[in-house]
Amino acid sequence: MLDYKKAIGEIIAKELPQLSFGEIKEMIEIPQDSKMGDYAFPCFRLAKELKKSPQIIAGELAEKIKGDIFEKVEPVNAYVNMFISKETLGRDTIKSVLEEGENYGCSNLGEGKTVIVEFSSPNIAKPFHIGHIRSTVIGNSIYKIYKALGFDTVRINHLGDYGTQFGKMISAYRRWGNKEDVEREPIKTLLGYYTKFHEEAEDDPSLEEEAREIFAKLEKGEPEEVALWQWFRDESLKEFNRVYKMLDIEFDSYAGESFYSDKMPRHEEELEKSGILVESRGAKIVDLEDQGLGVALIKKSDGSSIYITRDIAAAIYRKETYDFYKNIYVVASQQSLHFQQLFAILRLMGYEECADGCVHVPFGLVRLEAGTMSTRHGRVVFLEDVLNRAVEKTKEIILEKNPNADNVEEIAAQVGIGAVVFNELSNNRIKDYTFKWETVLNFDGETGPYVQYTHARCCSLIKRAGEDVSSKAEALGKSGEVRYEYLTSEGAHELIKLLYQYPQVVIQAGEKYEPSVITRHIVDIAQAFNKFYHDEHIITEDDNEKLAKMSLVIATRNVIRNGLQLLGVKAPERM
Ligand code: ARG
Repeated sequence: MLDYKKAIGEIIAKELPQLSFGEIKEMIEIPQDSKMGDYAFPCFRLAKELKKSPQIIAGELAEKIKGDIFEKVEPVNAYVNMFISKETLGRDTIKSVLEEGENYGCSNLGEGKTVIVEFSSPNIAKPFHIGHIRSTVIGNSIYKIYKALGFDTVRINHLGDYGTQFGKMISAYRRWGNKEDVEREPIKTLLGYYTKFHEEAEDDPSLEEEAREIFAKLEKGEPEEVALWQWFRDESLKEFNRVYKMLDIEFDSYAGESFYSDKMPRHEEELEKSGILVESRGAKIVDLEDQGLGVALIKKSDGSSIYITRDIAAAIYRKETYDFYKNIYVVASQQSLHFQQLFAILRLMGYEECADGCVHVPFGLVRLEAGTMSTRHGRVVFLEDVLNRAVEKTKEIILEKNPNADNVEEIAAQVGIGAVVFNELSNNRIKDYTFKWETVLNFDGETGPYVQYTHARCCSLIKRAGEDVSSKAEALGKSGEVRYEYLTSEGAHELIKLLYQYPQVVIQAGEKYEPSVITRHIVDIAQAFNKFYHDEHIITEDDNEKLAKMSLVIATRNVIRNGLQLLGVKAPERM
């Protein structure tokens, strides 16, 4: 695709030998207000060297900047404002979108580099609740974005499947457990045992001691303990997998905390040798006070390993196994200190390169509006229930709009679940937000259903125009032979501009680890399309006009579909 910034940079570079091409390209801006042009070049920096006012420089430069790609070049104060020819932009953009199809927005930026995206990572035998949706959905989208940018990707679910709590769980199961109950409803049942354990342990501290001993046996690999633990893990995973299936999310590896249990001794030795490990009341710690990161507990006084130790082993293992370029942890912002400590310790241990590639991608909390949903499972809101509820509610909305709608089940699933996912990815991830059904399922707001509906509208236009017209429009678009003069209205131009920017938006989303950049952009595309749709007659009598407009409709459909795909949201053709 033609990169206008680059093309403009080359033109300006010829006129300004005192600046390098790279500097010039950096300086080119995209004005907030499109009345100020598609691109602008500020001249402040040149004033000193040229001994002229920036206004005068802008005036002189504007005279010299010429080329077919421009419709207009004009100086405004200290800026040279440049307007790209609408027809050129239309032709280039529609051609790229249609030629590249599902790959429009993809690139090979990441060729030869491996990126690990660790996300979701729920804890075994604990509820997969509404709070987990964030890591799951944000992580999945970041994975898709990096894949689209050409990186080799590895999705890791770092399951919380280890730790002293498993001693408690086993002890509780042996006391009060029942196999059938666990199999019927694993997480709820196991959680019940675990809660009971804590209640009983308040009166009888020997329970804690027993749990510690059991965990020690588990760490040693005693078969009975291992078998129970394995069973809890398998049963919990069955439940998690139901949710992953609903969200259409997969992982390449489920190497969770337990996977590192036999890999820790080596690193504990390294830590000992490095001299950074110190004794403190029987426990082993690393003092990071001088970096403002407090103290990290590495080994408890009873010798059992803990969370951060397993993370040290995991990071090093990943570096050695995948030689990652980036190792991205999509984990709540509450764990920021944990990751800062982890990365600092890796450096102190001499694993600089490993630490350099590690990135914590934090996110804020989800709050629930009071009374948002009733919970079958007590106070915890299970993600599965939320997704099911979304599908039910969507079904009601669809049937209300169209009592004879067919294929309702499938569409309601795509729209309902899509709505929850899209909502999740609508705001900057670091912000806390409140989950509200009215916002999530609003078909007219800046929501998933609205964008999906716009996509379906494009699909229905394509059908309505007829197979002949649509395929001809696509062919002409691909060969750059559409009559672009029909696509120069304000509305069409705004839409084309957004389609043109899309590949850059994907790159930005990747750089910032921020899927919401894409979410917002496709909302803008949907809004621009709907304006175009309402303002203009698309399937007109005039064949050339109809073909031109349909090529834009097809291009819009493609970009919305590609964007939704990167968010992990389905794009149904009918709604
Ligand atoms: N299981 C943890 C939790 O639910 C999240 C794991 C985050 N990943 C990591 N490598 N520490 O809080």
